[in-house]
Amino acid sequence: MSADQAQRLRELAKAADVKPSAGQPRKTSNSGCTSIAVTSGKGGVGKTTLSLTLAASLARLQKRVLMMDVDLGLANVHILLGIAPRYNISHVIAGECSIDQVVVEAAPGVYLVPGASGLEELANLDTARLERLRMAFMGLEDNYDYLLMDTGAGIGSAMTHFVKNSDLALLVMTPDPSSLADSYAMVKVLYEKGNVRVAVVVNMVSSEREGRETFDRLNTLVVRFLKKPVELYAILPADKEVHRLGRRQIQLADRGANSRFYDIASDLAKKISGYGASAGAAGGKSGFFSRFFGLSER
Ligand SMILES: Nc1ncnc2c1ncn2[C@@H]1O[C@H](COP(=O)(O)OP(=O)(O)O)[C@@H](O)[C@H]1O
Ligand SMILES: [Mg+2]
Repeated sequence: MSADQAQRLRELAKAADVKPSAGQPRKTSNSGCTSIAVTSGKGGVGKTTLSLTLAASLARLQKRVLMMDVDLGLANVHILLGIAPRYNISHVIAGECSIDQVVVEAAPGVYLVPGASGLEELANLDTARLERLRMAFMGLEDNYDYLLMDTGAGIGSAMTHFVKNSDLALLVMTPDPSSLADSYAMVKVLYEKGNVRVAVVVNMVSSEREGRETFDRLNTLVVRFLKKPVELYAILPADKEVHRLGRRQIQLADRGANSRFYDIASDLAKKISGYGASAGAAGGKSGFFSRFFGLSER
């Protein structure tokens, strides 16, 4: 067995050991939970990679992070993390377990609601079930500084409901020409249906300049037709190491800490934690889940 494999086994054992309900954090501050949705117009642009890296970086800043895998079609965060959770949200809906049994500690300080399949059925749930889910989630949110949602691509209404109710949408795009139209379509839907703040992350660039030009093309379209700019949040390089680690299903995305990708992602976490302190849920806004379940407006 290689050292790598041994390490992975140790980590798997650790993940399996976790007693979710006992292990969940209690937040000491009362500053509210900032909700962040990582989204994109098309798939394969790096949302899951960025979500994992951000979660790990925020945890290193001593923040309590709850990751939620809401890619309804292709929930794969737990697979990338090498864990096989017993329960997911559909079990909560069915009344087969509590929300505490669903949450797993995926890495130190990073808690995960694995593959949230079932949530797309919200519209069809009877009142009792909906109420159960609402109570479960609202209690959960109180324990965390950040709710980080790894969403699926595209402008389907189930997905945009998550994004438009979050405090901050991180829109991931790449220099690939097809990414521009899809990203624009996403901003359009988000601006029409709500007033979420949209921050753009350009991923897989070969140069800073390429990143900037990619952003400028999107922002020019958005300003011209939607009259309200998007902001540039980060430019992340294409990095073979990131790709290699992704394929090997690493325990946590911050393993290759010596790359520019991870350095920049870690700066991004600092920027986000500044945002959380100044303008997150602390600013008198209601929490994500009460907006999500339609109890209150932003
Ligand atoms: N900056 C990057 N450099 C190189 N490969 C990347 C980078 N970001 C993501 N990838 C790779 O691209 C693929 C898609 O990434 P993923 O995070 O799964 O995208 P999404 O969640 O948007 O579908 C994965 O193989 C991942 O390792
Ligand atoms: Mg993904």
